Amino acid sequence: MESQRQNVGILAMDIYFPASCVQQEALETYDGASKGKYTIGLGQECMAFCTELEDVISMSLTVVTSLLDKYGVDPKQIGRLEVGSETVIDKSKSIKTWLMRIFEDCGNSDVEGVDSTNACYGGTAALFNCVNWVESSSWDGRYGLVVCTDSAVYAEGPARPTGGAAAIAMLIGPNAPIAFESKYRGTHMAHVYDFYKPNLASEYPVVDGKLSQTCYLMAVDSCYKRFCSKYEKFEGKQFSVLDADYVAFHSPYNKLVQKSFARLVFNDYLRNARSVGEDAKAKLAPFLALNGDESYQNRDLEKVSQQVAKQLYDMKVQPSTLLPKQVGNMYTASIYAAFASIIHNKHKSLEGQRVLMFSYGSGLASTMFSLKLHDGELPFSLSNIANVLGLSKKLESRHVFSPENFVENMHLMEHRYGGKGFVTGGDKNLLSNGTFYLTEVDSAYRRFYAKKSETGVANGTTIHENGIANGH
Ligand code: ACO
Repeated sequence: MESQRQNVGILAMDIYFPASCVQQEALETYDGASKGKYTIGLGQECMAFCTELEDVISMSLTVVTSLLDKYGVDPKQIGRLEVGSETVIDKSKSIKTWLMRIFEDCGNSDVEGVDSTNACYGGTAALFNCVNWVESSSWDGRYGLVVCTDSAVYAEGPARPTGGAAAIAMLIGPNAPIAFESKYRGTHMAHVYDFYKPNLASEYPVVDGKLSQTCYLMAVDSCYKRFCSKYEKFEGKQFSVLDADYVAFHSPYNKLVQKSFARLVFNDYLRNARSVGEDAKAKLAPFLALNGDESYQNRDLEKVSQQVAKQLYDMKVQPSTLLPKQVGNMYTASIYAAFASIIHNKHKSLEGQRVLMFSYGSGLASTMFSLKLHDGELPFSLSNIANVLGLSKKLESRHVFSPENFVENMHLMEHRYGGKGFVTGGDKNLLSNGTFYLTEVDSAYRRFYAKKSETGVANGTTIHENGIANGH
């Protein structure tokens, strides 16, 4: 098996995000924010959200069945399934066990893995688990499958426009067109209260927005330094942003991504790396003496480093910003949606290219790692992945809600959160064929889902949580 285990990584991807969305410009006006605050200030365009018909389980069921179907993968070929999520539906029963219905129906209950949780980092932990499994002595030759699924919602206030929702599925195995360069990972973990969910009666987090921004930028610096030093140790030469063809960040909102890339360039300047030319050096020189803490608060440095980084940002980061700007913060799925945007925009010219990835989850856990891309062969080729993702069609076929309807929906979801004994209403016409949706939560909190069929009527593929009735 050793000889088969080259280039372990992502063989196939699919994404699902709700068709329901609200325009940031309209939300800005509705919230009474100053014009441009959400669109220019945060850099966001639109935000997806779950109506009462959808949740992290339904989105995961949708994206997993879609991936298996579109790439022709038999559910029996999956040996490990890992889910990353921070959206709590049940404090014990994992989302992974829900997805087992797809595999059990095909006679496959031999599937390792459960859920990983730490804010937006859980998906990366799940991905590393699967990649490590394929690279380990316990690998049985089957595929790994990773699902990142979240509904990001905030209470009324300044954080609300930084929500979003999506689920991404990634098939893991050897000879992948998207291969891990596992040696170069740089990680930074710490204990902070920047964003957390201590109130189990509410779906909303407690957020210290300003602290979360600083923690994020400090994590970018720390991970980048470690990534560079590992690269230098193994390659015997210095790393700079020029060695990455593209960069995908965890993307809570676009402005933070712009600031983060500027931080990488400022780091390159401090390390005297080749990405920073003489003109840029002169512009950044006044900030050389700032200590770490001062540099995070210095607005002039922020402005000048973004100016200096602008050209490289347009080349290396802008192609990753499509989904994060259009769908919003997808928590665990966010960084992989940024990556999917690169595949969508550039799939014809990615042979041999490197993508630098930065994953951040509050609390905090963060890692920078890199992926090496190859065209690959059908069905696991980059062009087929772009085709299956079908981002243009998915974005075009969305339904834009008014801010009033969006807020009404938030109120209903607040009321429903943690509830039992209800049947969902809602407009199923907004769901595309093949989408799973919540039909009922019974008096024992058991959830029931159905799949929308070609005719637009539930086709009897109802999935019951019948395991719980018989005990755990
Ligand atoms: N036109 C243009 N720009 C504007 C306007 C305007 N009318 N008004 C404000 N801005 C700019 C501000 O200058 C600021 O930009 P800057 O950072 O470059 O200065 C930006 O818009 C945001 O304005 P703030 O006043 O800083 O926004 P506020 O503090 O109200 O909220 C925040 C922003 C903190 C990000 C909030 O949305 C939040 O808490 N979000 C959730 C936390 C989060 O996403 N953290 C990121 C990492 S952790 C994670 O992923 C969950």
